[in-house]
Amino acid sequence: MRKDCVPTGVPGLDELIEGGLPKNRAHLILGPPGSGKTTFAIQFLVDGAMNGENGVYFSLTDAKSNVIVDASRMFPQIKKLVEEEKLIFLDFEDYLSYASDLWAEERKEEVYSMTPATLFFELKRAIKRTNASRYVIDSISLIKFSGVIKEELREIARFIRNLSSLNCTGIIISEMLDPGRYSIEQFFAHSVIFFHSFMQNNKMFRAIQIMKMRGTKHDNNMRALQITSRGLRVGDELEWTLKSD
Ligand SMILES: Nc1ncnc2c1ncn2[C@@H]1O[C@H](COP(=O)(O)OP(=O)(O)OP(=O)(O)O)[C@@H](O)[C@H]1O
Ligand SMILES: [Mg+2]
Repeated sequence: MRKDCVPTGVPGLDELIEGGLPKNRAHLILGPPGSGKTTFAIQFLVDGAMNGENGVYFSLTDAKSNVIVDASRMFPQIKKLVEEEKLIFLDFEDYLSYASDLWAEERKEEVYSMTPATLFFELKRAIKRTNASRYVIDSISLIKFSGVIKEELREIARFIRNLSSLNCTGIIISEMLDPGRYSIEQFFAHSVIFFHSFMQNNKMFRAIQIMKMRGTKHDNNMRALQITSRGLRVGDELEWTLKSD
């Protein structure tokens, strides 16, 4: 067990990573649609907020009202945590909504300026306001990094380095757009956790796999992941029946 780690709140996971996620680092969650990324992130925040660690959830895709409604089904305590400002949800609705006045032709620059720095300073403000020690960014796929490969590398590295200066433990979600390719952020994040979902014998399976976690003796194998009406739980190692035809 490590001392400098925070529990995830997901039954069955902490014992695979020496007690929890390394504290004050940025952890990357990768996975295909519906694999449980958002559920994991919210479960992590709810667990913290219930135990004296406030949290900030930054939604870059869905409107925060939708996220709260959906997550409240599994985690009914969210409403109270939000009222008590132990958990806050933020989004970029003002930038992204067609209904918003900001979506005027002459403001296009502003709409597109969701740069890593914009997000970082919004996040920093929210963390300060709520005295948070956990945050989630769901997801970074929409942040506009420069298209130039060398600059993009530098920007992502810089972004993650700045996140690590927040004195907060962070979950950064990223959609797995190309499962056959490593994405740059995987190299810079402190840890990488994969969420898998796949079909076998006409049945859908979900699994979780800790790909890397710096400074930690961790499990490497695919473990069964269950999404229940009360959140995620991690089970046994998946058994494989490899068929050759
Ligand atoms: N109450 C529930 N009981 C069991 N499973 C549920 C329940 N609510 C949602 N789910 C499952 O969780 C899935 C959604 O998980 P989640 O939103 O965490 O995935 P995600 O990886 O964030 O997806 P996306 O890429 O779309 O953001 C649903 O598709 C559904 O299969
Ligand atoms: Mg999601």
